[in-house]
Amino acid sequence: MRLIIAVDGPAAAGKGTLAKALAAALDLPHLDTGLLYRAVARQMILAGLDPAADSGEQTAHALQPEDLQRNDLRVPEIDRGASAVATQPPVRAALLKRQREFAMASGAVIDGRDIGTVVFPDADLKFFVTASAAVRALRRYQQMHGMADPVQAELEELAAEIEARDRKDAERPVSPLRKADDAVLVETDHLDAKAVLAHALSVVRSRFSA
Ligand code: DC
Repeated sequence: MRLIIAVDGPAAAGKGTLAKALAAALDLPHLDTGLLYRAVARQMILAGLDPAADSGEQTAHALQPEDLQRNDLRVPEIDRGASAVATQPPVRAALLKRQREFAMASGAVIDGRDIGTVVFPDADLKFFVTASAAVRALRRYQQMHGMADPVQAELEELAAEIEARDRKDAERPVSPLRKADDAVLVETDHLDAKAVLAHALSVVRSRFSA
């Protein structure tokens, strides 16, 4: 089946983890669209451009598949750069085409901020994955430092960064972060990755078994 499943939500809510696991369980390709914005920001910085001030349009058009494979795409400078280039309409237009082409070939689980609202408004199924900023900050902290007792000041700094990025993503005029009306809301504060996947798979089964 050529299913297109959209998974949207704010930073560190667990949407990437869910999308990856769902794709594996359903044998579909997975695309993390945040990586596209991150790669544009990284290539701009390498070229001496400022993602917050300069146009990223050319860079977005010139993006190569290998630019998405870099292991330095999840550093704070790129977090900020990606959020900045994501406000530029020509960058979003250039990346829109790539996202649609990727999923049209054989279906996909595709995660981001605007998949269910803009990229695939007619997706077969949409999830909107969310969690409180405090829980998301703790998860990000544990990804960075392991499971040791968190340093409170660092945790608060992370929560503030996450909230600032949410605000920027939700308040931008083009393709803001927003739950599609027909998306299934998944709150992950009290669910681990396994439980989130089990819930999503039960929604898939009930939706497509008829
Ligand atoms: O999901 P992420 O944290 O890797 O995304 C990085 C940035 O890219 C994020 O600040 C918002 C932006 N983004 C977007 O605007 N639209 C998407 N579909 C995916 C990401």
